[in-house]
Amino acid sequence: MIYFNEIKGDKNMKIAIGCDHGGLPLKESCIKALNELGFEYIDCGTYTPDSVDYPDYAAKVCEKILNKEADKGILLCGTGIGIGVAANKFKGIFCAHITDKFSAQMASEHNNANIISMGARITSNEDAYEFVKIFFTTPFAGGRHCNRLEKIAEIENKNFK
Ligand code: RB5
Repeated sequence: MIYFNEIKGDKNMKIAIGCDHGGLPLKESCIKALNELGFEYIDCGTYTPDSVDYPDYAAKVCEKILNKEADKGILLCGTGIGIGVAANKFKGIFCAHITDKFSAQMASEHNNANIISMGARITSNEDAYEFVKIFFTTPFAGGRHCNRLEKIAEIENKNFK
């Protein structure tokens, strides 16, 4: 079940990454962190500073995860908010907005998020690199958190078609 997937061995993890023009400045440092972790990645764009709409890139990354072409994802926009909100409209996506080291850790340890979102107008390249390393090396704690995630899944099942 997608909610409780375990972190796989480093070499088996595949990460889908996507951004709009506002998030583009953070993409390189996120990819650097993924490379150092030994993860494969799929770059879903955008690739240029031309203005685009962040829901399109949220959709590309979510579809990779829901189609099981990727295990987890990274989404970047100006704030990390819009692209994260769009991602959370997909059933089975748990996107956590990350702004600091603690939220990067908790997003995996407690929330078992399958996507993190960050904003290039909020977070520096150096911090984004750190947050990616923290998120992808922190295991989900399981236990009492499974029950809470199951309740979120119940809400999703009730309210999403
Ligand atoms: C684009 O200008 C900006 O609105 C977008 O990147 C993001 O910050 C939205 O939440």
